[in-house]
Amino acid sequence: MKLLKSLAELREYREAVSGSLGFVPTMGALHDGHLSLVYASNMGTDNTIVSIYVNPTQFNNANDLDNYPDTLEADLQKLEAAGVSAVYLPDYQQMYPDDFAYEVNEKTFSAELCGEHRPGHFTGVLTVVMKLLNLVRPDRAYFGEKDYQQLELIRGMVAAFFMDVEIIGCPIVREDDGLAMSSRNLNLSECDRKRSPGFHRILSLGGDDESIAAELQNAGFNVDYVTTRAGRRFGAVLMGTEANPVRLIDNVPAR
Ligand code: PAF
Repeated sequence: MKLLKSLAELREYREAVSGSLGFVPTMGALHDGHLSLVYASNMGTDNTIVSIYVNPTQFNNANDLDNYPDTLEADLQKLEAAGVSAVYLPDYQQMYPDDFAYEVNEKTFSAELCGEHRPGHFTGVLTVVMKLLNLVRPDRAYFGEKDYQQLELIRGMVAAFFMDVEIIGCPIVREDDGLAMSSRNLNLSECDRKRSPGFHRILSLGGDDESIAAELQNAGFNVDYVTTRAGRRFGAVLMGTEANPVRLIDNVPAR
């Protein structure tokens, strides 16, 4: 497995790749959800490259960025074991030579759901994903359906800008107790981790969005939103403390 730390190393790798290339962009703190994307890429393409980059422009809360888990050594071991051919580890200078003077901005869906509660988040996501896709030039790129809104916005961006890449969405991977796997789960206290499966359980109940939101509040979750759209129910809740909130998102077929 090659470790690529500079643009020159990435370009050299890209020129030498033979056959198709699958790409899994991540922010590290890898779990089985990320690995499911890697396996999908391994199955669907001849080579898989993963990027690990905690993108500051998609964080609208400095504490959230500071607390984002960093498990690089363990991540690299998991990726090596999963048969990845290269890992790209850019830094801010490589990603933002323009110091974020240019951005990719979607004007409608990005303002809803998570976008309503995290202003600027999707602009940061779309900007860094476009940069990464332009640099890596994969045949296919893999994203998890837990971040369903992100996936839809990336599909929209790729279509709008005629980008030559196939976007593949992969199903949510859950813990045995139903909690959707997320890097942020590492930041849950023991007590919050025990309570957290209630989020998915209640979100999956039948009823309208208001009653589900009320049920979540009653169970002690601080609700950002519960919204049904196109047959899916989307939810976000805050756990943790006011100073160090841990935001969980999930989506399920609406009942
Ligand atoms: O889903 C993520 O981990 C991030 O939003 C992504 C796609 C790697 C962009 O930073």
